[in-house]
Amino acid sequence: MPVNRIPNESLGGPTCAVIAHKNPHLKVTIVDINATRIAAWNSDNLPIYEPGLDEVVKECRGRNLFFSTDVDAAIIESDLIFVSVNTPTKVKGVGAGYAADLKWVESATRHIARVATSDKIVVEKSTVPCRTAQSMRVILEANSTANLKFDILSNPEFLAEGTAIPDLMKPDRVLIGSLDTDRGRSAAASLADVYAGWVPRSQIITMNLWSSELSKLAANAILAQRISSINALSAICEATGADVDEVSYACGLDTRIGPKFLKASVGFGGSCFQKDILNLVYLSESLHLPEVAAYWKQVVEMNEYQKRRFTNRIISKLFNTLTGKRIALFGFAFKKDTGDTRESAAITLAKYFLAESALVSIYDPKVDESQIWMDLSEPGVESNLDAIKKQVTICDSAYSAAEGADCVVIATEWEEFRVENLDYKKIYDSMQKPAFLFDGRLIIDSKKLEDIGFQVEVIGKGSTGAFE
Ligand code: UDX
Repeated sequence: MPVNRIPNESLGGPTCAVIAHKNPHLKVTIVDINATRIAAWNSDNLPIYEPGLDEVVKECRGRNLFFSTDVDAAIIESDLIFVSVNTPTKVKGVGAGYAADLKWVESATRHIARVATSDKIVVEKSTVPCRTAQSMRVILEANSTANLKFDILSNPEFLAEGTAIPDLMKPDRVLIGSLDTDRGRSAAASLADVYAGWVPRSQIITMNLWSSELSKLAANAILAQRISSINALSAICEATGADVDEVSYACGLDTRIGPKFLKASVGFGGSCFQKDILNLVYLSESLHLPEVAAYWKQVVEMNEYQKRRFTNRIISKLFNTLTGKRIALFGFAFKKDTGDTRESAAITLAKYFLAESALVSIYDPKVDESQIWMDLSEPGVESNLDAIKKQVTICDSAYSAAEGADCVVIATEWEEFRVENLDYKKIYDSMQKPAFLFDGRLIIDSKKLEDIGFQVEVIGKGSTGAFE
């Protein structure tokens, strides 16, 4: 059964590659209108970095996994089509800043309707607001005939960046939403058969279309809400002498709570959490549920507050001014093991530092220099790249970033920033004194750094000696 995909969202590629890997009897074609991306998929330099992806693609490419720009041909020959397109937050018009822009979902759906010559099961893979499948269904049904029928399914993806391949190989669950009709259930069974190639049947869950769509937004909102909850507690910890790691550990041991996603940080980032919550906020408002909207909005507001609060702590410790001071920013990605910077807390921190007239030296092991310039010159606090370049230096090591700096700020939890992996004595010796280190990720051993001479400030922990 040919399975195709139209066009590209960053993690649809790995999903379909794993489907091909685990189902050698299926032909999977990944299509994208972007020829450069398809050329990259067909090269040794894949357009996405995910550990394990190269091996999966190498094994299947040319066997039962193909990459093409011929969208029409792929639609015509396929039985099952995953629509895995971008659904960015709208930047203008109704719902700007909150609602998902569904123009790519709609155009992909219209494309299928226009080109298809045989029955298709269309699978909504992109994260979409609840009831998007209804719009897709109306478009598809308006184009069906006695000999051409479309079925629509929702099949949200729960994988996280950096662990896409292990997440896909061993998912907690696979969710398939369908209409509660014989055709709907039969379409869901066909998709379940694809996943059954490697996922135990007991973990393939079928449910109604709308529950499935909402579950994806709900899962991300709940995960983000846990981080905002522990971050809210981190503020109380800093003011009382409680230690947020200990509070998190104590709470996480309760099996009803569990330990995951309770790590305090300078704020969550990534392409999904904020976008999906804002989507949920917009949905709640559209449904005339203002209290529900306010509840979820607060999760994002807490995240913004955390970044402001951390910055204020830095300013206050650096004698209430950052003007002309050099800040070494360790990490720019939104989390470790990825070069992705979307919604990274480091961007916000850097912009705050620039607004305070600081000089910022940035080092990240995986983020491209051009990406950093792009992120910092987006319209907002500073829009003039030349002016930004006077304040920002991008460095090729943590050591060069720290040279002559007044403080180090850890914004991403890269393993290489841990005390055992960096020569902090060398860093200390090259810095201005007093040398400050602000850990926004709780990854360093403050005692060891204090012994070297650093003044250490960790998120969710009071300053040393403050509560003795
Ligand atoms: C997330 C969801 O985990 C995934 O299921 C969904 O499909 C897409 O969105 P991702 O954005 O790749 O995945 O990253 P994730 O590992 O969830 O981390 C998101 C952010 O939260 C990162 O900035 C991370 O550093 C932060 N985080 C995570 C914390 O601050 N504390 C935690 O305890 C966990």
